[in-house]
Amino acid sequence: MTDSAAPAVAVADRPATDLRTAIAGLDLPTPVMPASGCFGPELDQLIGPDELGATVTKTVFEQTRPGNPGERVADLYTGMLNSVGIPSPGLDGFVERVLPRYRAWHCPLIVSVGGVEDADYARLVEGLEPHHIDAYELNFSCPNVSHGMVGVDPVAVTGILTRVRRVTNRPILVKLTPAAASIADVARAAEQAGADAVTVCNSFPALAIDARSRTPLLGNGTGGYTGRGVKPLALRLVHEASTAVGIPVIGCGGIGSGLDAAEFLIAGASAVQVGTATFSNPDAIPRITRELQRFATTQGLERIHELVGTLRKPHGSTWEEWS
Ligand SMILES: Cc1cc2nc3c(=O)[nH]c(=O)nc-3n(C[C@H](O)[C@H](O)[C@H](O)COP(=O)(O)O)c2cc1C
Repeated sequence: MTDSAAPAVAVADRPATDLRTAIAGLDLPTPVMPASGCFGPELDQLIGPDELGATVTKTVFEQTRPGNPGERVADLYTGMLNSVGIPSPGLDGFVERVLPRYRAWHCPLIVSVGGVEDADYARLVEGLEPHHIDAYELNFSCPNVSHGMVGVDPVAVTGILTRVRRVTNRPILVKLTPAAASIADVARAAEQAGADAVTVCNSFPALAIDARSRTPLLGNGTGGYTGRGVKPLALRLVHEASTAVGIPVIGCGGIGSGLDAAEFLIAGASAVQVGTATFSNPDAIPRITRELQRFATTQGLERIHELVGTLRKPHGSTWEEWS
């Protein structure tokens, strides 16, 4: 039976959902932003100044780095394997040549920060401080001389983050690795050491083999698996992290449509990042944003935040039984 006092409003007549998102002290025009390393300033030809929630740079290191030998990338049908090795122009090259071009977009600028040794992160952030960066994203999936990969070790995360917190008052995002035994433990360590948000997650350690030559497809052997195939894995990690911490989670992994983005918000993410989808479709982010808005509008949402963390429990079960 319909309520005659409240005539149904056609979807086309509903006010569009407000996509503005406040996260970690940043005001984002939309919750959809690029993932580090998958988006460069050259895309200013394709993506308008108001079409991103934020810009996120490729991970920068203090020193210049050449990256890994080829092959660096393999297309694996359900996703992509890469071992680019994070080539970097170093702090000076980044500030002089790269940073000014990211300012083409009228949205917060997040610089992704890497380190070969623990002390590198704080030194690099200190060097970036005079350049009006809106926020930092610490890439804890980098190979590190002392820990292998920082993000698998909550103690290492605490140590590095404590040092970085001493040199900046700006928002700090921490990008976690799916290689951690417990993403919840690492997310909690990041929150306690002063992170303002966690990004979940980076690429999944993986190996692709050419059977005929019996060699890895990538020149570096193993690599990071990303794209469509990782989405359910990343969704689980986002849900787990978002139930473990009070700070916002930024979801990332296999997002290629507005519905994918909606799933991440429902799982508990407050915003999302898009990586691999941009390689086959350079204007994926504006499209995903429009699709997300259309979905949220048809759901009758006034603000996109109303979707966040709304995953319902399977019938009759508790989260503990379910996970
Ligand atoms: C070619 C390539 C380069 C990447 N470079 C970086 C990087 O520099 N820093 C970083 O934190 N993540 C990097 N990533 C990981 C992405 O930011 C993202 O976490 C991952 O690709 C999962 O998202 P997706 O499935 O949407 O691609 C890279 C991914 C790819 C495919």
